[in-house]
Amino acid sequence: MIDVPSELLRRIREHGQEHVLKFWDDLNETQQEQFACQLEAVDFELFNSLQQLSAESTPVELHPSPIVALNDTYREIGVERIKKGELSVLTVAGGQGTRLGWSGPKGTFPATPVTGKSLFQVVAEQILFAEKQYGVVIPWYIMTSSQNDAATRSFLLDNNCFGLERTDIFIFTQGEVPASTKDGKMLLSSHGSVAMNPDGHGGVISALKVSGGLEEMESRGIKYISYVQIDNPMANVVDPKFLGIHLSEESSKEVTSKCVKKTNPKERVGVFCLVDGKTTIVEYSDLPTEKTVEQNDNNELSYGAGSIAIHMLSTEFLQRVVDGMPWHIAHKTVPHVDLNTGDYVNPKSPNANKYERFVFDVLPLAKKSLVVETEREDEFAPIKNAQGVDSPSTSQQFQRDRAIRWLRKCSVDVSDNANVEISPLSGSVPEELNCQEFPSSIGDGETVVL
Ligand code: UD1
Repeated sequence: MIDVPSELLRRIREHGQEHVLKFWDDLNETQQEQFACQLEAVDFELFNSLQQLSAESTPVELHPSPIVALNDTYREIGVERIKKGELSVLTVAGGQGTRLGWSGPKGTFPATPVTGKSLFQVVAEQILFAEKQYGVVIPWYIMTSSQNDAATRSFLLDNNCFGLERTDIFIFTQGEVPASTKDGKMLLSSHGSVAMNPDGHGGVISALKVSGGLEEMESRGIKYISYVQIDNPMANVVDPKFLGIHLSEESSKEVTSKCVKKTNPKERVGVFCLVDGKTTIVEYSDLPTEKTVEQNDNNELSYGAGSIAIHMLSTEFLQRVVDGMPWHIAHKTVPHVDLNTGDYVNPKSPNANKYERFVFDVLPLAKKSLVVETEREDEFAPIKNAQGVDSPSTSQQFQRDRAIRWLRKCSVDVSDNANVEISPLSGSVPEELNCQEFPSSIGDGETVVL
């Protein structure tokens, strides 16, 4: 039996959270040490400041965001900077595959239609291809969560990092914050632990800083970060056109984001808007209904620029905004220990506040930003749900269709029903493919991996 370290006890009392120690005496010494360790890591000041947040959003003036088409004009500028070693890839992969009925990290989920390559392998192979093409190292920064960090590391090591150098992959874990009751009390997830939650993908910026990732980038001469989420196997993670347009027009932009046209008003993607004159992403759940359906003179959705969560970020900009990212509150159901009975309870309705940051909140912090439209068919087929929209089967169909289109650009006579997969090691856009190596035709139902 050990005592709660005195300095820790002082902090807990100062912040009115003594109740978390209610079952301290029931714990064995190891459990007490672990609990003390967890509590030492809690940022009580931050937790306190989060209690002042209000869930109500103030009405704002909304307008559609201007967008330009992604084009080839600045590709060479992008290529030049990639060759100089100024580009890195950043993947947020803190999520688990639970919603897909998958027990491991989401990044280990089999994504491609024929060979079932994992989401991680698809990114790794794109980087490997680009490294060979441009003769340069493109370091890969991966954000995990405490839940999946160990499993992610072993998965990559077990697979020999899919051919990438281990030393060019930087894995870091996102932060966590305690959930709270509506009156600002922390909840216990067991007698010897506080219920914590990941701080959202927007936690990536502070996690990069705290882990030394930003410094590491600086020491490597990295100036630009290609940000992608692990759930989209069609994201082009090393895109010279995108980097080029980010760098075009000398007064360099701090963030450039890709969008696609929304398929329908209800599609669950954030929308690029001008909020009080600043480019911002408004989450689908926050866009007023009348704006969701509003149409412009071309009979297209006025608020139809859907975010595919791909951003080009300048490292200098991230250094500047690291402390300025806002927090969001979500009312959620959080299982916890009942302080009166000591029993673990699973509430049926939302009982607690969770706190998260969103990466797209960097947009309004940028002095200059740009939104570029890309083709959905080329770049967006996320895997989010077990069935229906954005599921493994829809994603695989989009990947197959894209492969067929690209093969036709190579003059291959492909049946609409061919089962084809193009490896990221063969190229990430049609222009990179080596068409001579492809067969002249692929028949109905034929399975081919290229
Ligand atoms: C997200 C965007 C939405 C966008 C859509 C495109 C938000 C709130 N919404 O929706 O605007 O149109 O993607 O696909 O982001 N992640 C972490 N740590 C976390 C939370 C998430 O690493 O704490 C990672 C997940 O592994 C996942 C990604 O972030 O890869 C997306 O997060 P998710 O919460 O699933 O966002 P969506 O609701 O899909």
